[in-house]
Amino acid sequence: MAKYRICLIEGDGIGHEVIPSARRVLEAAGFDAEYVGAEAGYEYFLDHGTSVPKATYDAVENTDATLFGAATSPSGEKPAGFFGAIRHLRQKYGLYANVRPTKTRPVPDAYENVDLVIVRENTQGLYVEQERRYGDTAIADTVITKDASERIGKFAADLAMKRGKRLTVVHKANVLPVTQGLFLNTILDHAKTVDGLNTSTMIVDNAAMQLVRNPRQFDVMVMTNMFGDILSDLAAGLVGGLGIAASGNVGDKFGIFESVHGSAPDIAGQGISNPTATILASVIMLDHLGDHETARRIDNAVNKVLAEGPRTRDLGGTANNKEFTEAVIKALA
Ligand code: NAI
Ligand code: MG
Repeated sequence: MAKYRICLIEGDGIGHEVIPSARRVLEAAGFDAEYVGAEAGYEYFLDHGTSVPKATYDAVENTDATLFGAATSPSGEKPAGFFGAIRHLRQKYGLYANVRPTKTRPVPDAYENVDLVIVRENTQGLYVEQERRYGDTAIADTVITKDASERIGKFAADLAMKRGKRLTVVHKANVLPVTQGLFLNTILDHAKTVDGLNTSTMIVDNAAMQLVRNPRQFDVMVMTNMFGDILSDLAAGLVGGLGIAASGNVGDKFGIFESVHGSAPDIAGQGISNPTATILASVIMLDHLGDHETARRIDNAVNKVLAEGPRTRDLGGTANNKEFTEAVIKALA
């Protein structure tokens, strides 16, 4: 019997390309796992009337970790019964921390020596998706609780203590003192109790500018859900873009690992997507599971191919998904 069981959810669009690539790399690296495929997303919803079937809950619950491709959420009015698959899974399984590392890799046009992690609160804020309309007025709730703020603050502080011991709490408490203020002050109260932690605060608009001007000043940044969504794409853009940005959704019991990017409908089906983000999400998954040796081997192989080529088009190369994946597999040997 294999040591691990891994749930694979391709989802939508380029999810169908990047998940099989990551699986091939995991297999070539000798990761001792059995794979369980499961469905979720907009394509599944259109065919079956739900975004996540029960069989997928079973697969997530009966495996050691899940690797997720991407799921489409159509913009504008939602079809009746539709919900965003990944946001739903994050909430259902209490995956309260979305960990999004940004580290310089050997790709063109990347800022040098960036090594930061955005910790995004993953269950609350504006993404509770409680919206309503009264005539021509539309209202969205933002939910912040002390418990969830404490939980994410503790997670971020613990992570910072394992790294450069610097934590930046990103917020907008100047305009939203009740909701953002609760988040900010709860985390600051916890941070004060952590010996040796160097904590600072930054208003989110300035944080966006500071990330572009001098990302090297940051170590661990913690923020509410929507700010983390936006700033993590910005951070990805500093070091090569969405093709290489990976993340982990982690809670006390389950973990779902995925790229930062979405289903990329503009390139889906052409075989030209960059699988690096999902391969690196599998590296985060391996570290989470404790297989650090396989994690480092895959990470090194990816860096070797990023440095020497062939590169995919988003990084200025000409390789397609398959050629890149095969180069990574070769670099593992
Ligand atoms: P996106 O991340 O799918 O694409 C943004 C741009 O980056 C596109 O030009 C795309 O071609 C490019 N890109 C993304 N990943 C790439 C890769 N691996 N290789 C090469 N190029 C890549 O964001 P977009 O277009 O704003 O959203 C598309 C759909 O994805 C929407 O329905 C959105 O709701 C969904 N989405 C889902 C996420 C998830 O499942 N976690 C995250 C973000 C968006
Ligand atoms: Mg996003």
